[in-house]
Amino acid sequence: MLFLGIESSCDETAAAVVRDGWEVLSNEIASQAEQHAETGGVVPEVAARAHVGVILPVIDRALSTANVEMKDVDAIAVANGPGLAGSLLSGVVTANTLAAFTGKPLVGTHHILGHIRANWLERDAAEINYPIVTLTVSGGHNELVLIRDEHALPEPLGETQDDAAGEAFDKVARLLGLGYPGGPAIEKVAKGSAGVPELPRAWMLPKDISRNFSSSEAGERLRDGRLTLTNFDFSFSGLKSEVRRRVQTGDFHTAALAHEFQKAVVDVLATKLILAAQQFDAAEIHLAGGVSANLCLRERVAELASELPVRFPVKMSYCTDNAAMIAGAGYFLFQKDPAKYETGELLDAEPNLRF
Ligand code: KG4
Ligand code: ZN
Repeated sequence: MLFLGIESSCDETAAAVVRDGWEVLSNEIASQAEQHAETGGVVPEVAARAHVGVILPVIDRALSTANVEMKDVDAIAVANGPGLAGSLLSGVVTANTLAAFTGKPLVGTHHILGHIRANWLERDAAEINYPIVTLTVSGGHNELVLIRDEHALPEPLGETQDDAAGEAFDKVARLLGLGYPGGPAIEKVAKGSAGVPELPRAWMLPKDISRNFSSSEAGERLRDGRLTLTNFDFSFSGLKSEVRRRVQTGDFHTAALAHEFQKAVVDVLATKLILAAQQFDAAEIHLAGGVSANLCLRERVAELASELPVRFPVKMSYCTDNAAMIAGAGYFLFQKDPAKYETGELLDAEPNLRF
């Protein structure tokens, strides 16, 4: 079954053609990163306007690269939330129009479900074992989820209480004058933080426990079982504020502070992911979302996971926003309940869509 996927929830305009949820025939992206580099972050109004000009050519390119025409496509999947309202609208209006004209089924697809399903792209579904604990982290979201079996939707275990990790990377990169997007910029310069005072890690332990330990000591105790974690939520705003405070003192070295910041973020993400995997008896661990492109995070997760298999999307381009993941997730939703998507009903853009 051929799915056309459309993604426009933030600052990438993307379209893809995917067969049966895993075989990627094309995956086209028009990125706005250059425009947002000037402002050091995404300006929603600028992002919304930029989608309008490129969405139809991007869809055309996805069809021609896949060597198919619209009539060959069996269904359309579009990311209808969460995301920036104006950005989402471009994809949703285009998908509604295409579906109305062609009479093809239209599957509204949760953007984060797309990131999670990116791990199925170009993989044999039979290789994947359940239950799975997935950490999906990007600029807009930061979620830990449990997937109990092949047909189950992800169950949230924890999410960020303030900034997402990618957002923290972007904000800290701006503080350090490293440009946008911040994650790759920080990863590139980060080097050698010996002698840099430790940055805080928000383990979300009860105060009467956390005040007895330094951040890294609490981490060690969590990993070796001397402390137990019951809260899988995240928080990165305190860490970002501490970086800002140090930058304001003027007494810092960019590469070293970037390194210490990356280490603190990776420590919390990797530790919470592994502890959740242990607690929920995961057969596999998955990483997804833009921040899963970070090699330091990948290495730390692999190191802590020891025997447990760890999967990342097979290509870096499936980590950051793309439409192949939306087509893959759309196929999965369609398989669960085809009749639901044959109604001809149009979709709304839903900036705060929940699973
Ligand atoms: O998934 P994505 O493309 O868009 C959102 O849904 O937000 O993720 C973009 C985020 C940005 O915050 C970017 O700084 C971060 O992912 N990112 C990284 C890396 N590559 C992208 N963060 C850390 N290290 C990287 N190598
Ligand atoms: Zn995303």
